[in-house]
Amino acid sequence: MTKISHSRRSFLRVLGAAGAGAPILARAERLEAALPPPLDPDGFDAANPVSVRRLRDSYFLSPDLVYLNHASIGTVPRPVHEAHAGYLELCETHPSLYVWGGVWREVTEDTRVAAARLLNCRPDDLAITHNTTEGFSILAQGLELDPGDEVLFSSLNHAGAAVAWDELGRRRGFTVRRFDFPLERAPELSVDEVVALHLDAVRPETRVLVIPHVDNMIGMTHPIREIAEAARARGVEFVFVDGAQSAGMISVDLAAARVDAYAMSGHKWLQSPKGLGLFWASERLQAAVPRMWFKTGGDRVGMTARKYEDYSTRAWPAVVAFGDALDFQASIGVEEKERRYRALWTRVYGRTTEDSRLHWGSPVDPALRSVIMAVGVQGRAAPELGPMLLERHGAVLRAFGGRLNTLRVSPNLMTEDESLDRILDVLASQGA
Ligand SMILES: Cc1ncc(COP(=O)(O)O)c(C=O)c1O
Repeated sequence: MTKISHSRRSFLRVLGAAGAGAPILARAERLEAALPPPLDPDGFDAANPVSVRRLRDSYFLSPDLVYLNHASIGTVPRPVHEAHAGYLELCETHPSLYVWGGVWREVTEDTRVAAARLLNCRPDDLAITHNTTEGFSILAQGLELDPGDEVLFSSLNHAGAAVAWDELGRRRGFTVRRFDFPLERAPELSVDEVVALHLDAVRPETRVLVIPHVDNMIGMTHPIREIAEAARARGVEFVFVDGAQSAGMISVDLAAARVDAYAMSGHKWLQSPKGLGLFWASERLQAAVPRMWFKTGGDRVGMTARKYEDYSTRAWPAVVAFGDALDFQASIGVEEKERRYRALWTRVYGRTTEDSRLHWGSPVDPALRSVIMAVGVQGRAAPELGPMLLERHGAVLRAFGGRLNTLRVSPNLMTEDESLDRILDVLASQGA
């Protein structure tokens, strides 16, 4: 099993250093002793259905649901929830010490370090925010753009990365433009073609390019480094990445990515408590984009990316439990995670392409695909099928209408093969 760090074990050290009295120390000691290990000590074996079933049992998910909507919102593992509940109780034993005494602030640094390890970046360049949308609000509010400057998106971008630019563009006079991504060609696209599609859309006035790392409709893993390098060579000044669907699902290497900012939500693939995200900004960008929040007491955190999260009283227990969520994911191990997701992709792709009543709408190139998969049902409008799938089969999938007309299958490591097969059979039975 992968060696992990335990942010949860830091309370005693920090409280001791803060000179907390004996009753508080005793309480923290009891909490730390009671916290369950992040994962079954045997670890996770992607090829073993018993291990998948044991992992499934580590969640609260209702047993009558086949939850294939992890791309919309994830679910918190029991050990992470229990740690969170323990921190909430601890906080209430001495609220002012915990909220204002710097205890949580210090323990939070363990969460930051664990997150930086996951994303391969410096902790100082990382803020612990609420979600992806907040990261893009920080960027759109803070970056100085003039009338005539352009922010460029593809039609695969989620509104969470775009709404702040749309609104502020109207107020300040800069332009926001979207180019049409050829959804129908997704299964045959190569990395070079995806880079070319982005490059062809760049104009001399494009100062900012925003790309999803993995989009939420067809699950295309964008080659962010290649796109960023090509766009820069064309004169684009800043490349920002929407990581809502990538961190926790695929490996992220910000040191190698050559981008300027990356914003994500912990409550999807990292399965953190809801309302937690990460925002990474390069040093160059930190110099260009000021803090978004203002609060009494001035700037307590200096000129690192911590300035973007310094918004006064916050839900510290959840922030610390984010560290437990990161530990939980780390304890699964990158290789086992990749192995399980590869197997799930192969299963869904195989069954979909073998059955003439279904059709496949996502990338196939191994460098472009992900475990967010678009499956269409021949002759049917996907949005009509959603309610029936839930009511009759307990299946939760997001439907996309229009040109795409697919159901999004977004399983998780703990999704069992049989339940996936069962729902694909139901989908096929609805096709013409
Ligand atoms: C690609 C993408 N970006 C941004 C968001 C917005 O996430 P949040 O509401 O957590 O800010 C989502 C949510 O589904 C998403 O899929």
